[in-house]
Amino acid sequence: MDIIRSVDGMQRRALATKVSGVRIGFVPTMGFLHAGHMALIRCARDLADQVVVSIFVNPTQFLPGEDFASYPRDIDRDRGMCESAGVDILFCPTPEEMYAPDRSVWVEETMLSRGLCGEKRPGHFKGVTTVVAKLFNIVQPHVAVFGQKDAQQAKVIGRLVRDLNFPVEIVVAPTVREQDGLAMSSRNARLTPRQRQDALCLYRALGVARGMVEQGVRDAAIIRAAMADTVLAVDGAEIEYAEILDDATLQPVPIIAGRVLVALAVRVGKTRLIDNVSLTP
Ligand code: PAF
Repeated sequence: MDIIRSVDGMQRRALATKVSGVRIGFVPTMGFLHAGHMALIRCARDLADQVVVSIFVNPTQFLPGEDFASYPRDIDRDRGMCESAGVDILFCPTPEEMYAPDRSVWVEETMLSRGLCGEKRPGHFKGVTTVVAKLFNIVQPHVAVFGQKDAQQAKVIGRLVRDLNFPVEIVVAPTVREQDGLAMSSRNARLTPRQRQDALCLYRALGVARGMVEQGVRDAAIIRAAMADTVLAVDGAEIEYAEILDDATLQPVPIIAGRVLVALAVRVGKTRLIDNVSLTP
């Protein structure tokens, strides 16, 4: 596995690879890799000849006061995991390498990024779309794989690619869960054993929503209230949002008539966790 730290080096290598007819699969990450990332890498392997993984904790997608400084990092462990997963190139630039001090161009999506995490973390998706656009230009992938756990992010990136005509196929891979249902996330590492138990309330609340839809409940307010009760039954959990949205537009729906995204953000102690499920009535 080659490790590339410079933007120029990565871009030159990618352009040469592309010209030679090799199909590049890309998995952008912020590191502290887990089984969820490994599944994205396997998916990229299946869809491409060469796999590039980026590890970059992107400062522009964190709001002031968020956990940029304390975001879990372990580059040596990540490197070992990438090597065993058969990654061809690990791209790990520094913030200085990625961003000029006088940068003045941003890429912003203005519809799908408005609600959910976009509302709770204003500016977050602007940082995500900007860095992903930059990474696509640097890595030149034919296909890029994102996780369904970050459903809103995946949809925003799909729109970015469509509206700015990036020649990249976006593939969304299913959420990988621990045996007890907790969605894999780098931030899970921060949970104490007690909080780890409390965190299961997200999966339970999504299960409640699924059960109600299966039983024929269509009123989103009733389902949201049941999800809130499930989360709030746990002392240490605080709801940021529990929403039921049209799966394509991410607009809240009052009555479930077609495919919906049921999405949750919950704070367990200081750790913010998100999870979601797509349901068709
Ligand atoms: O999902 C993530 O890890 C990040 O938001 C991404 C896509 C790597 C951009 O920094």
